[in-house]
Formats: sequence, structure tokens, C-alpha cells
Amino acid sequence: MEIIRHIEGTRDYFAADAARFNRALRVAADIFARYGYSQTITPIFENTALFARAIGEATDIVSKEMYTFTPGSETITLRPEGTAGVIRAVLQHEIYKRTGLIKVWYAGPMFRRERPQKGRQRQFHQVGVEAVGSADPLLDVEVIALGIRYYEALGLNDVRLRLNTIGCLNEPCRPVYRQRLRQALQPLLPRLCKVCQERFDRNILRILDCKNSSCQEVVKDLPRSHEHTCDACREHFARVRESLEEQQISYNLDHTLVRGLDYYTNTVFEYTHAALGAQDAIGGGGRYDGLMKQLGGPDIPAVGFALGIERIMIALAAMPESKEAEAEAIDLYGIALGDDSRKAMAKILGQLRQAGLSADMDYEGKSLKAQLRSANKRGARLALILGNNELQRGEVIIKDLLHSGEQRSVLLAQCCDEIKTIFKCI
Ligand code: HAM
Repeated sequence: MEIIRHIEGTRDYFAADAARFNRALRVAADIFARYGYSQTITPIFENTALFARAIGEATDIVSKEMYTFTPGSETITLRPEGTAGVIRAVLQHEIYKRTGLIKVWYAGPMFRRERPQKGRQRQFHQVGVEAVGSADPLLDVEVIALGIRYYEALGLNDVRLRLNTIGCLNEPCRPVYRQRLRQALQPLLPRLCKVCQERFDRNILRILDCKNSSCQEVVKDLPRSHEHTCDACREHFARVRESLEEQQISYNLDHTLVRGLDYYTNTVFEYTHAALGAQDAIGGGGRYDGLMKQLGGPDIPAVGFALGIERIMIALAAMPESKEAEAEAIDLYGIALGDDSRKAMAKILGQLRQAGLSADMDYEGKSLKAQLRSANKRGARLALILGNNELQRGEVIIKDLLHSGEQRSVLLAQCCDEIKTIFKCI
């Protein structure tokens, strides 16, 4: 009988991968808290209308990538991103009435029916932050810097930052820029790919970030959004850039960055990493000052980002000296031969685990040599070796696996105290 396999675009995590995954979440929880963000947990599925209204009907996500179901009379969708759900929750529970600025973070699985490839999955995971209730450009900078500091805390080097402004929705701003783009693009339409020809009417800004080389050639010389925003947006963006520079956060001003979700206003940004190839965005975000109102709430500005855990893991794995192996290592491995020794070893390990050490032993009847190999493979600092001879003498051997390779015998009755002392000293 054929086995049932996973769904394409999803993946399973074991051992080192699961540890790496958890570390990415742990580091996020830790650094987000240090910046004053508290955790929020929202449902994995929501009313389809929420995403259609928040992300935009014309986006790729809403028009073709959502997992939507109609059990009974409802139409529900597996969340393709986290912002819409968080803002829905803030609105529904009127959290904005209770506090001033709301700073939250979240983590969890997201779902998009994209064509799977390296760094692009149908179920993937994000960690993200949303700061709701202030239009201060310094808050944009805090959010952007937080992403950078997170990657640093993970040990991920060579992250690049792309930055742009796409202006606000008011009359002299984005509508005028859109009009300028339309005028500039009209005579160039035949040079664009088929998809972009359709985007001309539906979602003209998305032409700017098309990956097709002939479109990119056309886009190079188009009017740039940061040169066509209204005065207020120009001032906002200038202050964002100034503070980034003051904080020595380098960025590439990139007029082709428009993002794939319609709720953005003003500042938009993306973090990229060269190890990813075509899907090089390891995170992205921006301001979305109109979203709250668009969802039926008050006019409250907000800014946030989401970072893709799987893409971060690909980038980390490509680094020459990965710190992950260390995270997986255990404190000690018990090597025992013969029934009585194995029973004694199981008891010792139980006591050491209770004392807070990580320990493991063999349960497959392996030879001494194979057990030593397992200990090394697990990155154990110490091996505890117990054969029948040692057991009869009431002794056990402690072997340093990481540094000196030295070994010595200690009394069985004292070995737990001895080991605890060793780990206190390390
Ligand atoms: P996004 O750019 O659509 O933004 O996604 C953020 C990150 O999620 C991407 O940079 C990428 O790392 C990861 N990601 C997206 N799609 C996939 C996929 N199919 N497979 C693997 N990873 C993926 C948002 O989701 C916005 N909600 C961010 C935001 C928060 N803006 C304001 N607040």
C-alpha cells in the first residue's frame, strides 16, 4: 500500500530543524518584549470578507491564493497573513479605547496557495509586530530597527533593507502618482508582460515590482513614488530616513518596492537575504494608516512587519558557521553495557535530568563504540560510561567529550554530585 504523503508546499520539522524553528520563535518573543510589544493570539481562520477588505480584492493573495471553505452557511479563509486578524481583534474588543498606543506581536502559521518553490510554501510561519495608534515617523523607525535587531540576535548576517514610500490615499498624493504612472506607461504597454498589461487597469503599482526582465527595463525610468508624494508624506518619509541614518541603519531606497498587500500607506520596507534566490524577502512591512477605518473602525494609524521563519531558516543554514548545532547539544550521554548497568544508568540520568541537565542514553542495544558515536553525534559535553566491571567496583567513568577527551573514575554513589559540580563550573 502506498503511504500518504504531506501536502505539497507544507513541511515537517524534526530534531535540529524543530530546534532551529523554536529558537527563531524564542528569540522573537524575547526581543519583541524588550521593545514593549505584548503577545496576541488570534484565530487561524477568519471570515473571508476580512481578508478581501483588508488585503484588497485585486491582490494576488485575495484573488488566487486563499484557502477558502464554505462549511454550512459561512465562508471562512485560513489566514494568509496576520495583520488583518490583529486589527479585527483590536477593533472588535475596542482595545484602542482602553489604551493609547497598542504594541502587539504574534507568531503562527499562515496559508497561501502559491506555486511551491525554494522559500515559498503553502503553509509557512511568521512572527510579526503591529504598533497601532501613532503616526510618529520614529515609530516606523523603531519597527524597522526591531526587525534588524531580531536578525542580529538570531546570528543572521548580511540582511539588506529596501525602503520606499508609496504615499497616502489622499487626493494630491497616491491618486496623482498613479495618474503619472498611467501616462508614462500607456505608450510602453506593448513592452510589458501579459500579467502587467492586466495590472495596468487593476493594480498599476504592482507593475513596479514585476520580476520579468523586460518589465524591469521599462520600470527603471518611470516616475518614482518618493518624488511624487504630498508634502505631509514627503516630510514623514524624510524624517524616517533621517532617523534611520542617525541610528546607522543602512537601506537601499528602492522605488520598485510597493508590496503585495493593498493596505499600505507611506513607508514600506522589506528585509532581504542573498541566500534565498528569487524569493529573497525574509520579512516585510510598512505603515497602514487607513486599514482600521477601512475595516469599519476609527481613523487610527498603524505600522508593523512580519518575518518569514522558513526563509530565515534557509538563510541561517547557508551561513558558514551556524550556531544551531550548539543549541541542539545535550549535556551528557550515558553509555551502559549489560542489563544491570543500563538500569543503574537510567536511574542516574533520571536524577540528573531532575537537577536540570539534559541527558540521554541508548535504547537500541548498541555496542560501546556505537554508543560513543551517538554521544558525539548529539554534541554531548560529557559521557558517563558504565560497564559490568565498573558496576561491580561501584564506580562510573566520566569522560570529557568536548575539550580534553580525558576520563576518570568516580564512585557511583557520588557521581551525580560530581557531575552537577562540573556543570556549575562550566
Ligand atoms: P508579506 O510580505 O506578505 O507581509 O509577508 C511577510 C513575510 O512572510 C515575507 O517577507 C516572507 O518572509 C514570508 N512569506 C510570505 N509568503 C510566504 C510563502 N508563501 N512562503 C514562505 N514565506 C512566506 C505580510 O504578511 C504583512 N502582514 C506584513 C505586515 C505586518 N505589514 C504590516 N504589518
